[in-house]
Amino acid sequence: MTRKKLVFANWKMNLNSDSASQLVKDILLTINKDIDVEIVIAPPFPYLDLVSKLIEGTKIDLASQNIFHEENGPFTGEVSAQMVIDMGSSWVMIGHSERRQHLLETNSMINKKLIISASNNLNAILCVGETYDERRQDKIFPTISDQLKRGLSEIQKEDLSNIVIGYEPVWVIGSGKSAKPKDILEVHNFIHEMLVSLFPKAEELPRIVYGGSVNNENIESIISLENVDGVLVGNAGLDCKRFCDIVMKVGVSHD
Ligand code: PGA
Repeated sequence: MTRKKLVFANWKMNLNSDSASQLVKDILLTINKDIDVEIVIAPPFPYLDLVSKLIEGTKIDLASQNIFHEENGPFTGEVSAQMVIDMGSSWVMIGHSERRQHLLETNSMINKKLIISASNNLNAILCVGETYDERRQDKIFPTISDQLKRGLSEIQKEDLSNIVIGYEPVWVIGSGKSAKPKDILEVHNFIHEMLVSLFPKAEELPRIVYGGSVNNENIESIISLENVDGVLVGNAGLDCKRFCDIVMKVGVSHD
């Protein structure tokens, strides 16, 4: 079965309402409307509504960068799954390494978020990846295996088609230099094998996308790899030309 390729832009805490709307308008003017690629944009919370209105009826879908791990209640400053759905999101990012690092998100919080996103019919991208120290200490596979097992705990096989795994080696994020194709391939194959063993009866396993300094120059060497179903783009997603180049090159690679 061919799986639709995904290009997912994570804007992080960047842009303002003017630059966000300009970027979306430029992207919509530049991308080929017939391209067979799933495109998702994750703006900061305050711009969800604005972007949602701009992309209505287009082939771009909206993601929030996070949700809280409870449905509602006394959680000052937090945002629930229902709230981001209200703002037009059909996707959510869960467990990005910046949140694991700066907001101290644990695998158990991440797992609760994933369960909530599944029960609200949101598509979710579950981010996993090793730090530089874990790589140096040869702990890549134990780290990712733990993140996957705990992150996906109690997830039902019926929910898997709404889940994407984002492999993002923490040490290359924002560095301008992606991981080497052979390293990406090795980890994606490992994640694929883990998913098969965690969900032996699943008809459809989650897609696996790579993130970490993806740009319009290295995209072809990444998207052509086995078990790479798309990319998660940070920096390059803030620039119309670089982002649209990535989308078009992914489209061309898709057989
Ligand atoms: P980057 O970010 O492309 O700027 O490395 C990717 C990410 O953190 O999702």
